[in-house]
Amino acid sequence: MNLLFELSKEHNALPRDEAISCLKAEEVFYNKVASNEDVLVIKSDAAHDKIKRIAERLSFTFFIDELLFSCSTSLKEINKCAEDNAIYSKGSIAINYKNRSTYTDSQPIVKTLAEVYTKDKPVDFNNPDLEMRVLITDTNVYVGLKIAEVQRNKFEKRKVQYRPFFSPISLHPKLARALVNLSCIKRNETLLDPFCGTGGILLEAGLIGARVIGSDIEEKMIEGSKKTLDFYNLKNYKLICSDIGKINNYVNSVDAVVTDLPYGKSTTTKGENIKSLHTRAFQNISQVLKKNGLAIIGLLGKDMLTIGEKYFSLLNNYEHKVHRSLTRYFAVFQR
Ligand SMILES: C[S@@+](CC[C@H](N)C(=O)[O-])C[C@H]1O[C@@H](n2cnc3c(N)ncnc32)[C@H](O)[C@@H]1O
Repeated sequence: MNLLFELSKEHNALPRDEAISCLKAEEVFYNKVASNEDVLVIKSDAAHDKIKRIAERLSFTFFIDELLFSCSTSLKEINKCAEDNAIYSKGSIAINYKNRSTYTDSQPIVKTLAEVYTKDKPVDFNNPDLEMRVLITDTNVYVGLKIAEVQRNKFEKRKVQYRPFFSPISLHPKLARALVNLSCIKRNETLLDPFCGTGGILLEAGLIGARVIGSDIEEKMIEGSKKTLDFYNLKNYKLICSDIGKINNYVNSVDAVVTDLPYGKSTTTKGENIKSLHTRAFQNISQVLKKNGLAIIGLLGKDMLTIGEKYFSLLNNYEHKVHRSLTRYFAVFQR
């Protein structure tokens, strides 16, 4: 079957790459059929349970559907595709749509689909047996049957201001989760954040079943991370108060590193020059990350990528505009 990932478009590449990394982490075999900023379409025989597990991990996807068809926004074509892609299972149906187009009218599209699909099925918007999802973009219509919805409000509820330990340095949980997913970490594998701050990355990794190790130079951050991880009932964690230079005294070989380096404004470097701290960070992370393991690292500037390339292969880099004068870079390195 073809699976449709309805991407959130919060970034031009991160949502698609997060979904692909999750497929790898969950060992789902697939072939990529199509991808753009709106969707990722893959061919896969993954069981529904597996797809639901992936939906529980993802943060930058809205829905995962079984794709019935995609075509242009022409009503004639939509009608033909719908007639050619009948649904044989019994039960009631609801047709829900999202119109992302600035100029396409959704109503005639939904009416065309309803004429075909509700001919022999009762409509039930409250508790349907089948939920049809229609995604309308400027050029295409994607029609599928919902398999799983990503519960994105849970990330809003875990924002740092609602956790037991607050500091403005923390990443949004949606972004922290996407970075964890990019590392392809599997359940029961070990993930290290050696600049853990409030523990936001550790929390997102712990919630998907990874063992987590966090360290930070500041004792108050370690105490705060502990409060947060305990509050969410995580058990498989270890926290260490340490300068990055001493991390290999405590940690042997981890499966993945996900971290957000200090950038010297609201997050202190303890007076150390940014370049020197970045060099020490890359050096020490490369000593504790297993061979071929991935390190997802938040950096202040593009020139820091060059330092990282002395120790790792750079696989990818995502620019994230925090505000007008601050752009962060999230790089994917492999050891
Ligand atoms: C950008 S913050 C991390 C924020 C974190 N991702 C979160 O969600 O809260 C960087 C952290 O690095 C820590 N730090 C600064 N210099 C360090 C060093 N030399 N070794 C270890 N940690 C250090 C700071 O105390 C700070 O908590």
